[in-house]
Amino acid sequence: MARLTVNGQAHNVDVDPNTPLLWVLREQIGLTGTKYGCGIAQCGACTVHVNGEAVRSCSMPVSAVEGKQITTIEGRAQGGVLHKVQKACIDHDVPQCGYCQCGMIMAAAALLKDKPKPTDADINNTITNICRCGTFQQVREAIHAAASA
Ligand code: FES
Ligand code: FES
Repeated sequence: MARLTVNGQAHNVDVDPNTPLLWVLREQIGLTGTKYGCGIAQCGACTVHVNGEAVRSCSMPVSAVEGKQITTIEGRAQGGVLHKVQKACIDHDVPQCGYCQCGMIMAAAALLKDKPKPTDADINNTITNICRCGTFQQVREAIHAAASA
């Protein structure tokens, strides 16, 4: 049994402590915005925030996040208002197939929290998420737009 706080709500989940957080979010809690891509912490599709830091949930055992604040893409908008990165992604037509985008948005939101005005180099070094549709240039534009919002 693990007790998790996800998007401000407490959840008791009956899982093996080694279960990756990704699968608990998707299968026990029903938050399917967080995606499975590689399962080995390489692609970033599964990125969520743990205590405000971007974390690749496919490689994070649920036992390591008990008692911490977990935020998923479903908790990113507040009071029905999109996060500025979400809005910038829409404004800049970033999503193509969309599969990578939830993880990309979570990674970008964490970057802006740490560096409110990131350079292209900051973005390239920090946003290592993989987009098979090749939206990297639009992602950079959206992050700069969000930084100026
Ligand atoms: S599914 Fe987690 S990094 Fe690829
Ligand atoms: S928008 Fe298709 S993988 Fe990124």
